[in-house]
Amino acid sequence: MLSKKIEDAFNEQLNKELFSAYLYLSMSSWCDSQNLGGMAQWMRLQAQEELQHAMKFYDFVLDRDGRVSLSQVDTPKRDWDLPLTVFDEAYDHEKMITNSINDLVNLSFEEKDHAAVAFLQWFVTEQVEEEATVQRIADKLRMVEGDKVATLMLDNELSQRTQAGDEAE
Ligand code: FEO
Repeated sequence: MLSKKIEDAFNEQLNKELFSAYLYLSMSSWCDSQNLGGMAQWMRLQAQEELQHAMKFYDFVLDRDGRVSLSQVDTPKRDWDLPLTVFDEAYDHEKMITNSINDLVNLSFEEKDHAAVAFLQWFVTEQVEEEATVQRIADKLRMVEGDKVATLMLDNELSQRTQAGDEAE
């Protein structure tokens, strides 16, 4: 059985993961509008991965005899000026998610909920990869800034990602 504090915090994280999916889908549609199909594909798969993260929290709350509470998902931003801004903002978003996961770990220790601590370890590891991958793409975009051919080559590289768990980076 989950404590009320853990149940509320996990439901909040479920909402954050759903918002992440929404944000990355919006980023995907913007990339598509700029004819950057590889980046659009990468972000679309990232959105799917975030849905998987959301469902991990959903299932954990249910498995622990908690109550899932779905709340309104915020409207994501719709427009960006450059692909670099998209990936820089995705990196900032992942850093926010990492802090949020760390807060959940701290809360789980305070509540002496060992199952929650164990469950969250997957996310602690995952966030290292999430941050590193998106930062690498942002750094490459910074290197090729203003070079359309190099940007298209990078776009092509990102189109190699074929599934949600695969980063193509
Ligand atoms: Fe669910 Fe990108 O962290």
